[in-house]
This record gives sequence, structure tokens and C-alpha cells, in this order.
Amino acid sequence: MSERLLIPWTPDLETGHPEIDAQHKTLIEALNRLHTAILDGTGEDELGWCLSFLKAYTRVHFKTEEALLRKAGLDSEAHSAAHREFLASVDGLFARYVRQELGLISETEAILQTWLIDHIQSDDQVVSLLPREADQG
Ligand SMILES: [Fe+2]
Repeated sequence: MSERLLIPWTPDLETGHPEIDAQHKTLIEALNRLHTAILDGTGEDELGWCLSFLKAYTRVHFKTEEALLRKAGLDSEAHSAAHREFLASVDGLFARYVRQELGLISETEAILQTWLIDHIQSDDQVVSLLPREADQG
């Protein structure tokens, strides 16, 4: 049913924070969109969109997440460093895409899949500790 989705959204990915979960879903949808395009043989066309989107959207997402965590005193340098590392990784992939480097698709998919899942299931579990009042921003 969902074998065309690389990462179906499952409860173990939820932090319980509506805004953060919605943003995580958006990130995973971008990865799934890339994966479906690869299956359809249009991965090359989708790669540029995917990397441009992630370059912009991950910045928005990390800003949102870090602000919420900071407000609740749950931020950490290690978590922010993990975000910076991912941004650098996406920027690096995008720069290589612009240089028309070959063989980037599977590498991009693997990096995104590993990082997103690991990060959401480990570092981002702290988001579930946010007090409900913080949901209002
Ligand atoms: Fe995070």
C-alpha cells in the first residue's frame, strides 16, 4: 500500500508537538517525493527541487524548533550543532548538484533518510517535553 513511500509517517516519529510534527511531516514528504520520483525514473528532475526546498525549509524548521526549546530551557548546544551539521550537509549536496555532479541521487536519499529518522527519533524526543503552554508560541 505504502511501499512507494520511503518513510511512511508512523507514531514513533511523533513528538506530540503539533507544529513540530507538522514540520517533520513536511520534511519527510519531501524525501518521499524524491523517492517516488526515483521509482518513476524522474529522480534527476526532482533532486534540484528537493535540495532547494530542504535548504530553505530546514532553516525555518530548525529556527522554530530551537526557539521553542530555548523558551522552555530545553535547548542544548549538541542539538543545535546537529542542526548546523545537517544544514551544512544539505548545502554541500546542493552545491554539488549545481556543479552537475553525477551519482548524487542515491547519496542524497540515503543521507536524508538516515539523518531525518535518527534525528527525529533521538535528538528531537526532547520536543515531547515541551509544556503544552509553549505550543502557543
Ligand atoms: Fe531537531
